[in-house]
Amino acid sequence: MSFAQAWDSENYARTARFVSDLGSPVIELLAPQPGERILDLGCGDGALTKNLVDLGCDVVGVDSSAPQIEAARKLGLDARLMDADALPFLEEFDAVFSNAVLHWIKRADPMIAAVYRSLRLGGRFVAECGGYGNVHKIRAALVRALDQRGMDGEAHVPWYFPTPGDYATRLERAGFRVDNIALIPRPTPLPGDIIDWLETFAQGFLHDLPGLARAEYLQEVRAVLEPQLRESTGIWVVDYVRLRFAATKVTPP
Ligand code: BEZ
Repeated sequence: MSFAQAWDSENYARTARFVSDLGSPVIELLAPQPGERILDLGCGDGALTKNLVDLGCDVVGVDSSAPQIEAARKLGLDARLMDADALPFLEEFDAVFSNAVLHWIKRADPMIAAVYRSLRLGGRFVAECGGYGNVHKIRAALVRALDQRGMDGEAHVPWYFPTPGDYATRLERAGFRVDNIALIPRPTPLPGDIIDWLETFAQGFLHDLPGLARAEYLQEVRAVLEPQLRESTGIWVVDYVRLRFAATKVTPP
């Protein structure tokens, strides 16, 4: 089952700014050099894309959300609306970079093939996304609460959180050499309530619930998660696990 996730750029900036704020480790892994031509895959509202431009790179951002592309263009960025598995580029980038996006792409192989085509030989694919075990407690609570309503909770999971072995195999099969790949647990404090997080990131679980039942469902999930994820200070800390990798295009097409 798949549903289009809707992004509201103002809401995203309010509830999810931490996603780009925590992007520095993957930028460090990318080690961008001034003058490099870089594709930011899933650029969102362009916060990290702009960092790359400010470092002197020539950057194209792509995203499948029109509101996010509009927000990125307001920052003066070259931001283009397109799907990750239909990139029109041919061997023109030194690197493809992606932060917090690949876990939305359940059919990873066509996307990896499109990234491969976009890179010159020797180009890098450097990315971070949710990895195996990511937001495990949230996922379990969301699935269980749908199951308890007689629905198939698993079928509503909109995310793909791969193991390093799984992703490395896909990358190598596509013609990449995997230079490093690892899972990194990163418990992450939220700026607000878990309900904001759920409304922003867990829309895939809500689509088949009638409008009035959605708030009740979210409150039930919140109640399950509160003893697990809310600290005595009142702050919610989400059980993020990142999959971070760097790979190089090595096989000529
Ligand atoms: C993540 O960045 O890991 C993530 C974002 C949204 C939903 C689930 C995970």
